[in-house]
Amino acid sequence: MSLPEAPRINPSILAADFVNMQADLARIATADFAHVDVMDNHFVPNLTFGPQMVERIQATSPVPLDVHLMITDPDRWAPGYAELGAASVTFHLEAAADPVALARRLRSIGSRAGVAIKPGTAGESLYEILDEFDQILVMTVEPGFGGQGFMAETMPKLRALRQEATRRGSDVWLQVDGGISESTIAQAAGAGADTFVAGSAVYGAEDAAAAVTRLRELARAASLES
Ligand code: DX5
Ligand code: ZN
Repeated sequence: MSLPEAPRINPSILAADFVNMQADLARIATADFAHVDVMDNHFVPNLTFGPQMVERIQATSPVPLDVHLMITDPDRWAPGYAELGAASVTFHLEAAADPVALARRLRSIGSRAGVAIKPGTAGESLYEILDEFDQILVMTVEPGFGGQGFMAETMPKLRALRQEATRRGSDVWLQVDGGISESTIAQAAGAGADTFVAGSAVYGAEDAAAAVTRLRELARAASLES
């Protein structure tokens, strides 16, 4: 698979209409990936769907899947999402028993391996193992719900991860998720993000494709400036 260039815009289908998923997936055909939030009502206080639904989304989506697992025991459950064909599978560092072994397993199945950190989790523990991952997800809200406000206090951590990746010559993608909109995307792009999840900002727009284009333009302009 050829990989899309930065800046990448990944609409979160958490903000889609769950009973009109096929139509709502068609609305984001110009995006880079469909961001799929799997929640287990245990790692986070919300419940979405599991592998059976994600398999149907995979079969229906016009763009590859970027699966974000907000679940306990990803060591056990994450490989199943790679096996069903998700292009990228991201699990939470806070939930994983052996993040490096899990990332290797995901890659061996053929998906990109991502690791996510909550706003209160430091980024430094990832520095020594950056090469094990294809994507680091810096959460810009507490995981669990769409439509929350962007937490600007996470930007120094993102900036430090970008500096570390550059220093090490790493091509790891730096993703942000939560509260990304036309008014916040420039901050995240300026701090070094190259991959942007946006739920309400895309699905809340009349024209989702136009919202994707606009977000991409704003991210590109801000990353050129920084
Ligand atoms: C939150 C999810 C996000 C969420 C983002 O736990 O991981 O992907 O859908 O939604 P917005 O863009 O509305 O903040
Ligand atoms: Zn997410």
